[in-house]
Amino acid sequence: MNRFKVYVTRRIPQEGIDLLKRVADVEVNPDDRPLSRAELLDKVQGVDGVIGLLTDKIDGEFFDAAAGIKGYANYAVGFDNIDVPEATKRGIPVSNTPGVLTDATAECAWSLIFSVARRIVETDKVMRSGKWTGWGPLQFIGGDIKGKTLGIVGAGRIGTEVALMSRGFNMKVIYTSSSDRRNGVLESELHAKLVSFDTLLKDSDFISIHTPLTPKTRHMFDASAFSHMKRTSYIINTARGPIIKETDLVVALESGEIAGAGIDVYENEPLMAPGLAELDNAVILPHIGSATISSRTDMATLAARNLIAMLKSEKPETCLNAELF
Ligand code: GLV
Ligand code: GLV
Repeated sequence: MNRFKVYVTRRIPQEGIDLLKRVADVEVNPDDRPLSRAELLDKVQGVDGVIGLLTDKIDGEFFDAAAGIKGYANYAVGFDNIDVPEATKRGIPVSNTPGVLTDATAECAWSLIFSVARRIVETDKVMRSGKWTGWGPLQFIGGDIKGKTLGIVGAGRIGTEVALMSRGFNMKVIYTSSSDRRNGVLESELHAKLVSFDTLLKDSDFISIHTPLTPKTRHMFDASAFSHMKRTSYIINTARGPIIKETDLVVALESGEIAGAGIDVYENEPLMAPGLAELDNAVILPHIGSATISSRTDMATLAARNLIAMLKSEKPETCLNAELF
């Protein structure tokens, strides 16, 4: 049997590569950096399948370059980098990695909730500077968490898990849903309420974003949204950067319109809006939501199993255009 040819656009955990090697000759971008567009289009010529990243744009031009490709597996749950209708039109299956990074991303959102409310990064910097003068009753007072209202924007897998993790803190949970569908788990486990976006903005003490990036969610959080939030509230984003208009966030944080932000994703990664990095009330992480050992390993093996299925013209476990099968 002819062995398949597979290209992987950046090094991923070896477990995934080892699975692929059972059925394919695998070439991996040897440099730990994203490929340029020209390199990507060059490297995918003549291959049967590709594993790529959220930084690779998978569109008509990509599929033209990768003529004859049997499938594309995204090493990410978010798939705003893929033109799925274009893939479907061409009969090419595409997949993502849902589920395996739910806990890691939810834990990351909680890390941001605690870090921003209790000023962990800001006060760590004070200690390191050697400028701390000793305990003081009015120093570094932060926000409370227990008993506060947690607003979940997009109660899918990750949003649901973030909400469930609030049980230890007896929080009131409200959520929005783009489809206006009620979340049975959240309603029965937490007595959570489905609310309008406006109510979520007004009532939440913490807002955590878990919706995919779509034309409808792009810049969902802009100056107007921030103006409806409480001045004591915090916004957390572990989903996709462009859901927040980052320049408006900087203004809202500078002016005290909201109390703080915990941010893992940016509008123009790896860049940040000017001013964000200077703000003590922003905790800023370099897109590490899924970066745990088990999550990244499971993403690699799931992406590999998905691609192997597609190479064999079988339906991948987590297919984005299952109508092709
Ligand atoms: C990471 O951002 C992902 O979508 O998996
Ligand atoms: C992604 O896994 C989500 O549905 O939240």
